[in-house]
Amino acid sequence: MRVAVVGATGAVGTIMRDLLIKRGFAADAIVPFASERSRGRELPGATEPCRVLADDSIQGFDLALFSAGGATSKAWAPKFAAAGAVVVDNSSAWRMNDDVPLVVTEVNADALAAHNGIVANPNCTTMVAMLPLKALHDAFGLSAMVATSYQAAGGAGQKGIDELAEQIPVVGADIDLLVNDGAAARAKVEHKVHADTLAFNVVPSLGKVVEDGYTDEEIKLRNESRKILDIPGLQVSPTCVRVPVMVGHAVAVRAIFEREPDLAAANAALEAFPNLVVQDVPTPLEWAGRDEVAVGRIRPDLGVPTGLNLFVVGDNLLKGAALNTVQIAEELVARDLVRPASTAVAS
Ligand code: A2P
Repeated sequence: MRVAVVGATGAVGTIMRDLLIKRGFAADAIVPFASERSRGRELPGATEPCRVLADDSIQGFDLALFSAGGATSKAWAPKFAAAGAVVVDNSSAWRMNDDVPLVVTEVNADALAAHNGIVANPNCTTMVAMLPLKALHDAFGLSAMVATSYQAAGGAGQKGIDELAEQIPVVGADIDLLVNDGAAARAKVEHKVHADTLAFNVVPSLGKVVEDGYTDEEIKLRNESRKILDIPGLQVSPTCVRVPVMVGHAVAVRAIFEREPDLAAANAALEAFPNLVVQDVPTPLEWAGRDEVAVGRIRPDLGVPTGLNLFVVGDNLLKGAALNTVQIAEELVARDLVRPASTAVAS
């Protein structure tokens, strides 16, 4: 089994390499790919130095795990697939393509059987919300949700972490200014990755506005939830917010069901779900670095009897990205689905 890791030097790619080793993935070769500036770099867990994407460097792989941004995936995932590999792609490039399964392993791994050489890994925020929502959907029939995210800087990759880390000492050096003149504190640093100064702030804008005032991150939450849970008519009202947390996304969800949910049955369904932990007050700091998703604050809705409110937390780099990618690779092996595509994915 020869495995390519594309974007191997990035925040997610680094964890992918680490997980392949830690989880004992049966790879004979783990070959890293990154941009020209990383050519030849030796990386832990890799069996050879870093390669650059080219028609002759991508031949001879069984699996290719991608986390190098949408444009790289759009261009190179079909080429890897045509060369005989199964691609597991962490970008948004292929997620909503009808020929591409969009898989959270605990939720809809059966969808893998229909792959045509490319499998998509969901958006990190959508991913963590899917585990409790699948558990509750199976019990009560999910029909609508209001989802408000609290997303970590690391959701924007290493550069998102770096920008917040650089801002914290500068903005945090003057507490008086933070208390009395927030605008002056905000103006002490520049921002390129996040939509505003993130240190000591909350920024309700992720990505660009694409539809009726909603950002692309918010539309992903709606569309991907529908596809993963196989509820085409699911009503989703999303608001995505960046918070000054390094790693660990949280989502406050108001979920509405077809059948009135019983609180004890809801708790039992959540507790029984694989890789999901029920905890009174889950926080991103406690769950950063852990494989499981945590859910808490489970309360009946105060407005409608068919509603439940809950708070979900998960490591966006692990379950939200690298871990699910490696779990998909493991499922592909276990289900004997690592094979060249018979037809190409229509782009
Ligand atoms: P590099 O480190 O050489 O720039 P992150 O999401 O943390 O920002 O990481 C992005 C990853 O995608 C990095 O590994 C980066 O490599 C890689 N990358 C960026 N552009 C390309 C490209 N054109 N071809 C291959 N890898 C790329």
